[in-house]
Amino acid sequence: MTSRYRVEYALKSHRRDEFIEWIKALLAGPFVLHADIESFDSEFPELYDIPEDSDIYLKEHEKVIAKDCQRRYLEIFKDVENLIEHTILIDEINDKNPERNSTSRLRNLVPSLGRFFTPLPLTEAFLIEDERRAISKRRLVSPSFNDVRMILNTAQIMALTKIYKDKAKAHLKLITFDGDVTLYEDGQSLNENSAVVKRLINLLKLDLFVGVVTAAGYPNQSGAEKYHERLQGLIDYFNNPNCSLKDSQKENLLVMGAESNYLFRYNNEMKGLKFINSDEWLLPQVKSWDNDKITYIMDTIYQHLVHLRMKFNLEQSTTIIKKERSVGIIPNEGYKILREQLEEMVLSCSNKLNIILRGSRKSYSDSHEALIQLRDIKVCAFNGGSDVWVDIGDKALGVESLQKYLCQDSNSEFCPITKAESLHIGDQFASLGANDFKARLSACTVWIANPAETVAILDDLINYLE
Ligand code: IMP
Ligand code: MG
Repeated sequence: MTSRYRVEYALKSHRRDEFIEWIKALLAGPFVLHADIESFDSEFPELYDIPEDSDIYLKEHEKVIAKDCQRRYLEIFKDVENLIEHTILIDEINDKNPERNSTSRLRNLVPSLGRFFTPLPLTEAFLIEDERRAISKRRLVSPSFNDVRMILNTAQIMALTKIYKDKAKAHLKLITFDGDVTLYEDGQSLNENSAVVKRLINLLKLDLFVGVVTAAGYPNQSGAEKYHERLQGLIDYFNNPNCSLKDSQKENLLVMGAESNYLFRYNNEMKGLKFINSDEWLLPQVKSWDNDKITYIMDTIYQHLVHLRMKFNLEQSTTIIKKERSVGIIPNEGYKILREQLEEMVLSCSNKLNIILRGSRKSYSDSHEALIQLRDIKVCAFNGGSDVWVDIGDKALGVESLQKYLCQDSNSEFCPITKAESLHIGDQFASLGANDFKARLSACTVWIANPAETVAILDDLINYLE
């Protein structure tokens, strides 16, 4: 591997989403070949009727080219839509016959592809986003990463709301949100004027469960205060005498903290969040995690962060925090950690985790000399934008825990909550160094870039639901 390749790979590959890049590359074909306003298309001889007035001619010509481009883009989205349906079918067959293990054509083309829990109506979604973003009218800027991300988001919302309307079948039941950058700006809180509060209330009015699945980790009933502060604007509304929600709907608000470690639920008597004891909701596979192994992972990562901090001369400007289930490095008041250093540290911690989770001959305790497998324990390392954290647990477990906890009474008509009936909205979907990415294993997802995009996608969702 040449060093240039290594740099490209290490710094860029994890930031790319292979599926989005692949769709983008397909769309580049029609853009390059047909979106050129200068070229005259002899397929449309009627355009020759207005050649004297070149202004009108060009405008008409542009419309024709946009229409032609739209048709070609649509064909691509139809093909991708079909490939996704085929992948869902192959996955279902594999689930029933694990020994078959066949690979769909799409998965051959995009090996890092995850699971699709619903089909995606990409052609319909493209037409909506084309209207908003004028994708096929653009002559100089080809369909971008963000165009494709938005089309996938809209298609996911449309798929979920379609199934929602057919109550006999699967329908949307649980919507979970990441906290920072998704519900509120990084480090901020919800206040009564936050645009998203009104939308969250609307979701609760529709009898949906609303969860916040955040990395921010504060245990016990005392931790509830911290989450209460972040969600202040919403909880104040609950406690307002004019609140239009039923008591039962208010209790459909939950918070999962530290990825998958602490659960809280709004409680009408307490008029705030109540800490739920882990006995009531912890998944069996998590219950079986060995505490010594967890301590070993946390100590190793702590030492690794101490080493990185020294290497980058960050001793004065940063603090390393060790909590019950997480270790992080944060900037001290008045300092900032450079983006490149955050990136280096998160990649370095991920590499370290890969090595220790794979198992090593070194003992994690003096008495334990055998090959140690820590792979059963899920750990997540991510760059929070101004800090780096390594948390025990991940959002796949966080979302799954909510799905199962809410269905303890399996007789309820609402149960079970499947992955196809659960949506997670977040900002961190890069494949490495991001924590919402893991939620893809447990739910359908929408990838937003800021809280304003969350509001926009919720407006679409509520619009379609109603
Ligand atoms: P999220 O975007 O809601 O998942 O929150 C991520 C942010 O929570 C991080 O960037 C940190 O600033 C903050 N945070 C506070 N405590 C913890 C913790 O224990 N683990 C990870 N992040 C934490
Ligand atoms: Mg976030």
